[in-house]
Amino acid sequence: MRTSDTAPSLVCMGSLTEARTSIESVQGLVSVSNALQYERFDFRQIIDLAPADLTIRKSAMSDDIHFYEPAKGHGLPHDPFNAIVGPRPIGWISSQDAKGTLNLSPYSFFNAFNYTPPIIGFCSVGRKDSLNNIEQTREFVWNLATRPLAEQMNMSCASVPASVNEFELANLTAEPSRIVSVPRVKETPVAFECRVTQIIQLQRADREVVPSWLILGEVVAVHIAKRLLKDGIYDTAAGEPILRGGGQADYFQVSPESLFKMYRPKA
Ligand SMILES: Cc1cc2nc3c(=O)[nH]c(=O)nc-3n(C[C@H](O)[C@H](O)[C@H](O)COP(=O)(O)O)c2cc1C
Repeated sequence: MRTSDTAPSLVCMGSLTEARTSIESVQGLVSVSNALQYERFDFRQIIDLAPADLTIRKSAMSDDIHFYEPAKGHGLPHDPFNAIVGPRPIGWISSQDAKGTLNLSPYSFFNAFNYTPPIIGFCSVGRKDSLNNIEQTREFVWNLATRPLAEQMNMSCASVPASVNEFELANLTAEPSRIVSVPRVKETPVAFECRVTQIIQLQRADREVVPSWLILGEVVAVHIAKRLLKDGIYDTAAGEPILRGGGQADYFQVSPESLFKMYRPKA
């Protein structure tokens, strides 16, 4: 094994036993076995790994960090990914098929991606009715999921046949939109009418396609209840949006108390 002066330093020096314990706790660390022939050694002298590998192995060596490679499993009772990237806004998406059958479903792999034109997107993990509908009509509406409508939003995620209208299932009113043919949820104070810009099937890093589709749409019309405009400024907290946390049931509610302001540094 070669040594390298340029290798980043690891913090510990230690005995053979200490080293073996550390090393054996690191799954997949194979290149250090030769170093164990030394009774005492400096970890800095056994690093001769590609930078990407090195990053992984340094993290894995820490007792304070739970490290995993998603492709090999997270090793936890519940996948933390959603809880880490959270809380997430909810894309409460109304759509309809070519025959006009309505659909309403929540998607928390959702966000805004551009100002001009305004573009939002959500991901269908698996081929779902919303995706099928949107492929047919190239239109959808995003509806704000609010705390007062949380239960109804949840009801609208039921796995039901495409023929079932989730507006009716969740006892919501389908209000005609102004520009697109897909209706919006009348009970919610904010809605975006959208036309599809792209539908992108996702891929792994090795380019193998996976059964997930990112649906992006240009916002062509916006509805805002005037009570949410304070001196013309949209009041996010007054809309009482709910956000998706992790686990099976965690949500967060936006409240005025959680607001803090921070301005960008001046150039
Ligand atoms: C809060 C919440 C967020 C969800 N986010 C997603 C998501 O991002 N992607 C997805 O494919 N399913 C998501 N689901 C599940 C879908 O809503 C569910 O599969 C629904 O039945 C799809 O409806 P559809 O087949 O009528 O389009 C979510 C469910 C809930 C309650």
